[in-house]
Amino acid sequence: MSLLNARRRPDSRPTPPTSGGSAGRLLEVSGLTTRFDTPDGLVHAVNGVDFHVDRAEIVGVVGESGCGKSVTIRSILGLVRPPGRVVDGTARFDGVDLLGLRRTELRRLRGKDIGFIAQNPFSALNPVMRIHRQFATIMAAHGVKADGEVRDRARTALTDVGIAGPDRVLDGYAHQLSGGMAQRVVIAMAMLLNPTFVIADEPTTGLDLTVQRQILDLIRRLVREHDRSMLLVTHDLGVVAQYCDRVVVMYAGKVIEHGTVRDVLKDPRHPYTQALIRAIPRPGEPLVHLTGRLPDLIDYPSGCPFRARCPHAFEPCAQVVPAAVTEPSGQTYWCHLPQEREAAR
Ligand SMILES: Nc1ncnc2c1ncn2[C@@H]1O[C@H](COP(=O)(O)OP(=O)(O)OP(=O)(O)O)[C@@H](O)[C@H]1O
Ligand SMILES: [Mg+2]
Repeated sequence: MSLLNARRRPDSRPTPPTSGGSAGRLLEVSGLTTRFDTPDGLVHAVNGVDFHVDRAEIVGVVGESGCGKSVTIRSILGLVRPPGRVVDGTARFDGVDLLGLRRTELRRLRGKDIGFIAQNPFSALNPVMRIHRQFATIMAAHGVKADGEVRDRARTALTDVGIAGPDRVLDGYAHQLSGGMAQRVVIAMAMLLNPTFVIADEPTTGLDLTVQRQILDLIRRLVREHDRSMLLVTHDLGVVAQYCDRVVVMYAGKVIEHGTVRDVLKDPRHPYTQALIRAIPRPGEPLVHLTGRLPDLIDYPSGCPFRARCPHAFEPCAQVVPAAVTEPSGQTYWCHLPQEREAAR
C-alpha cells in the first residue's frame, strides 16, 4: 500500500522475525489485566493483554485515545496507583516478572535497565529543581555521587541529544526550556544509565510537526546505535510505519492484532486495524473518519469489544470472545471472521 511505499528507513535493517522462539525475547507480557475501582464502577482498562518485544527491535503500540496504551505501560513499570490495580498477568523482562517485584526493586530497574520517556516532558521534570540536580538525583539513586562525574555524564547525555550548550541547560530550570528542548532533556535522562530497553509513551504530543520528527529521529538513533529495544506508544500509524519493526494494535483494553509492520499495514486482518489504516490522512484525498466510539469500559461488552462498530459483525461476535488466529508469519489477530469464511466454504 501507499504508506509502505512511502516508508523511509534510513537505518533500514532486516526486520527481526516474529516467530524466532524466545531466545531473543526481552519483554513478554502475558494476560495483563488492570482495573480501576471507581465510584461509578470497575473500569476494565486492560483486559488480558499479551505481546512481546524482542532484543534490538522497536515495537509500536497503537489505538484510539482511551484504549489502554498508557495503563498497559504503567502496569508494566509498576506505576499504577489506587484506585488502579494490576489484578492478573505477568510481564517478564529478561526473565524476571516485573509484576512480582517490590517497589524499590522496580525503581532500581527503571532508569538503569528500562528508560521511560513520558508523554508530557514538563510533568516528568521537577519545576523547582535545577536540571543539574535532577540528573544528580537519578545518578545518586544508582551509586554515582561525585559532583564532577555527575556533571560530566549529564553534559555528555545532553550533548548526545543535540543540546549545544549543556551547562546553560544544567544550571537552569524546566520552565526556561521550549517543549522540544524539555523533551530532549527527558530523553537524555531516560538514556543516562544506558538502559537496554526504552519505553516512550507518545513522546511528541504537543510538539509541532518538524520538532516531532526531529525527536523521533533522535530517539530511534539512540535506540539503534546501542542495539536497544523500544516500545513506542503512538496513535499515529504513519509513525509506526516509519519507525517501528512490529506493531501491537489495541482496542478497549485488549490487543486485537499484532505482527510485523510490513504484514499488518499491507494486509491488516482485524476490521479495527483496517479502519485505522483507512483513517490515515493522505495528501489530496478526503479525510476518512473512524465512526462510533469505544465501548463503555465499566459495562464491558460480551464477545468481541469491536462488534458495535464492525461492518462485518455476525452472530457469534456478540457472545463469544474471539480466539487468537496466528498466521505462519506470526501475524496474530482476534476475530471470528476467518471461521465464518471457513464455514461458508
Ligand atoms: N486513574 C484512573 N481512574 C479511572 N480510570 C482510569 C484511570 N486512569 C485511566 N483510566 C481509564 O483507563 C482507560 C485507558 O486509559 P489510558 O490512559 O491507558 O488510554 P490511552 O490509550 O493511553 O489513551 P490516550 O491515547 O488518550 O493517551 C480509559 O478508559 C481511562 O479512562
Ligand atoms: Mg495514553
